Amino acid sequence: MSVGIDDISFYSSSLYIPLAELATRYGIDPEKYRVGLGQEEMAIPAVDEDIVTMGASAAWPVIDDDNRDSVGTLLFATETGIDQSKSAGVYVHRLLGLGSNCRVVELKQACYSATAAIQMACALVARQPEKSVLVIASDIARYGLGTPGEATQGCGAVALLVKANPRLVEVHPETGCYSEDVMDFWRPNYMDTALVDGKYSTIVYLKALRQSWKHYQQAGGKVFSDFSRFCYHLPFAKMGEKAHRKLAVTCGESMSDELFAEQTGSGLIYNRKIGNSYSASLYIGLLSMLENDSEDLSGRHIGLFSYGSGCVGEFFAVTVQPGYRAYSRRQAHVDRLESRQALSYDEYALLFEHQYPRVDGEHDFPEMTDGRFRLAGLHDHKRIYTETGAR
Ligand code: HMG
Repeated sequence: MSVGIDDISFYSSSLYIPLAELATRYGIDPEKYRVGLGQEEMAIPAVDEDIVTMGASAAWPVIDDDNRDSVGTLLFATETGIDQSKSAGVYVHRLLGLGSNCRVVELKQACYSATAAIQMACALVARQPEKSVLVIASDIARYGLGTPGEATQGCGAVALLVKANPRLVEVHPETGCYSEDVMDFWRPNYMDTALVDGKYSTIVYLKALRQSWKHYQQAGGKVFSDFSRFCYHLPFAKMGEKAHRKLAVTCGESMSDELFAEQTGSGLIYNRKIGNSYSASLYIGLLSMLENDSEDLSGRHIGLFSYGSGCVGEFFAVTVQPGYRAYSRRQAHVDRLESRQALSYDEYALLFEHQYPRVDGEHDFPEMTDGRFRLAGLHDHKRIYTETGAR
């Protein structure tokens, strides 16, 4: 029996700012963002969107009357927590109409936690193959106006259904991990923007990649040349490209520009338009590859590197399943990105400054999202989620 990812769907806000607009405002050469970071656009959440509404919207197409009852566990990965106690997943459990015997929990380790969720999901399915596990990763990346990290913000969510005999990719059991207590990026409970030592974070990312790969090799993993494609955690697309060059050098491989682009390029397409979606980013990259690669990847191996600041890294592999293209949701995802509304800098700055009330009372939020679910308000410190009727 193989275990892996049977279905994937993503959601991102209907609002974005072109990075050229940001560059113009700050008097920066737009090529710094387009070429230097590899980014074109950055998704901005509406005021009535959060990790719950984005996560539920991502998962909505994946769950239907035929599979709802077989979801035995919902794992919600995020570093944009909305409550110190209650899991964001419990709200999503209700919005999706999942069964009352489904266990729900939230996981946190910066951008890495969705990978921990996938590994746990595979173990759960191996034990109970008739059940599936719904993994949702949902995050909003915020650094602050005028900070070096500003151009690497973004938001998005991805839903992955982990099952026995999956239709999309089988997840291999060999895996390589690396953990170290470092302060490259963190967000204290009293802040709603992240603190980051930007340049240092890129160095730690690459160290974690080398160490995870080394451990993956010790665990009996495949060698570099066994892989057709590679996906990396993408705080910005250029980071994935730097990582791939570093891994190739570590493995003593030299490659042409064409081969380099072939091995990584299709995985960067969606992230260039969404920006950093933290825990969701690696899996939006995998989805981008499966949906946009010009070759049929059936039977090919893809290497994945997951990184979460603080830090934890993991390298592991998947094999693309024959016939995977028949289950693609590409058109819906492309339509989603193409129908978004561009914001001016002033509109973006106004949204950025929006604060959720921290005092008791009845607070209702303006209807702004075009997603299926919205955060309608905060009443007596309770979050009120509703359906908009959008499809
Ligand atoms: P910066 O100071 O804005 O940028 O910081 P820079 O001056 O280093 O320039 C960036 C690149 O643009 C450079 O290329 C420049 O040469 C190039 P590089 O040397 O790196 O190859 N450049 C140009 N290219 C073309 N035309 C031009 C031009 N000008 C400059 N005119 C930094 C960049 C990423 C540090 C900043 O944006 C930041 O702090 N971002 C947030 C932290 C981050 O994303 N770290 C990544 C690794 S850690 C991670 O991935 C975890 C994370 O997702 C969080 C989590 O785990 O939860 C962040």
